[in-house]
Amino acid sequence: MFKSIFQLFKIARKLASSGAIDTVNEIYNIPFAVNLFFDLFAIGSAKKLINKSKKPGEKLCDALEGMGTTFIKLGQFLATRPDIIGEALVDDLVKLQDKLPPFELYKSKKIFKKEIGENLYQNIIEISEPIAAASIAQVHIAKIKIDDVQKEVAVKILRPDIEKKFNEELDALMLFAYIVESLFSKTKRLKLVEVVHLLREITNIEMDLRFEAAAANELYENTKNDKGFNVPKIYWNYTSRKVLTLDKVDGISIREHDLLKRSGVNLKELSENLIQHFLKQAVRDGFFHGDMHQGNLFVDKQGNIIPVDFGIMGRLDINNRKYLAEILYGFIQRDYIKVAEVHFEAGLVPQSASKEEFAQALRSVGEPIFGQSIKDISGGNLLAQLFGITEKFNMPTQTPLLLLQKTMVTVEGVARKLYPETNIWEVSRPVLEDWIKNVKSPKTAFNTAINTSSEILKRIPDFPNFMDKANHALELLAAGKLNLGLKNNRGLEIEETKLKNLRNNIIISFLGIVIVVLLVF
Ligand SMILES: Nc1ncnc2c1ncn2[C@@H]1O[C@H](COP(=O)(O)OP(=O)(O)O)[C@@H](O)[C@H]1O
Ligand SMILES: [Mg+2]
Repeated sequence: MFKSIFQLFKIARKLASSGAIDTVNEIYNIPFAVNLFFDLFAIGSAKKLINKSKKPGEKLCDALEGMGTTFIKLGQFLATRPDIIGEALVDDLVKLQDKLPPFELYKSKKIFKKEIGENLYQNIIEISEPIAAASIAQVHIAKIKIDDVQKEVAVKILRPDIEKKFNEELDALMLFAYIVESLFSKTKRLKLVEVVHLLREITNIEMDLRFEAAAANELYENTKNDKGFNVPKIYWNYTSRKVLTLDKVDGISIREHDLLKRSGVNLKELSENLIQHFLKQAVRDGFFHGDMHQGNLFVDKQGNIIPVDFGIMGRLDINNRKYLAEILYGFIQRDYIKVAEVHFEAGLVPQSASKEEFAQALRSVGEPIFGQSIKDISGGNLLAQLFGITEKFNMPTQTPLLLLQKTMVTVEGVARKLYPETNIWEVSRPVLEDWIKNVKSPKTAFNTAINTSSEILKRIPDFPNFMDKANHALELLAAGKLNLGLKNNRGLEIEETKLKNLRNNIIISFLGIVIVVLLVF
């Protein structure tokens, strides 16, 4: 317990001196006592100067970025929860930069050696300085001799001791959240304890790189016969909890338009392929890359798309997929009654609602879109508006669909940058038509069942324990890091009980610490 309290002390100082507390104060009214608490802890520390001309959300980003991994992750998590912090703050927090200075090469080598063992490590011919460094891990390029062939691979390595540090800081944050929630009932609305608990679950999965490897592997299996989309291969022998080794991408960043053109890549086709591959993976496989920004996408000279970074994946069950395909297709055909029927058939709208009124609301979303020029049409925005309407009709939005919608906006943005005139409707239509046709023919239902079970068998490795964990993790990942609350309430309850028992002791200890602080500084 003293460790947590000590951590809390450190964090309180960090929070107060980074300017985060002042900024949060501009957004919410923090109770006087909490402010006083932070003021006490900030005594003697140099308060960071904050650029006054920035919006509160932007200032909060700056403060969080300066506080390291735990707070960068907290900011990223909150950016997925408009239900807690509101849309405006979400728009600012998504811009949070996940960058930290790299750690030294010798440390990477040491970790790599320890993780894969002396023997395998002898096959490593060369490791580069880090080429990218984020809050959890950094990436190196290495040459490895595999079966007597020299391969170039990318090696992602966790920051040293990151798990320990993160969990210690979270213990302290949890304590803080619990105390604030217990003392100020108004703050219950912010679900502080739940936020910290979910952040712990999600990030601990992200800090086990075997889960990312399993996700890459699944995406590889799903897409291995799709022309134009190549997922790098995972080297399992060189992969562990702390290290992920995969084929080095031999390609150009999708940002580099001029370079791509000079290499003979047709940007119009590339833009269309990107949208089609994404949509196909979502509706056909129900498994999609949930972080398709430009930094994670590469293109080879033949115009094949190569994704990296499989930390966030989305999973849609068959009902979500049917719903998605039918509504998007319905909108493309401007058949609002049909889109309304899909909602009623799926039991998504209360039976008491009027189908005509619902269809009218759908029309109010769809029609303006058809009045726009091609370059403004967006499936992602359409879905966002649709979810706005369904909320008004009292149906909760399925969280996996929210991740899909957000990713769709990102994918469309990348596609539009490549080729601004891309007609998203025309490009999406064949994918949706094909899939709907396929699902509706009864013959395929049987084939799908067989294929899926054989695929599953193929993917089960020898260590079932790990796979159980991996499956659980993939489920969590696939939930888009969004709806973990439902599944993990038990864990949360246990955590809360523990906290409750600690609370009284802690408040007393707090007072002690405050007195010590006052005496020391
Ligand atoms: N297989 C790879 N081949 C070449 N470069 C890679 C590979 N994997 C990652 N990188 C580079 O490292 C960067 C960071 O890797 P990424 O997996 O996206 O980590 P993060 O989760 O920190 O964003 C990528 O943006 C890319 O530039
Ligand atoms: Mg990345």
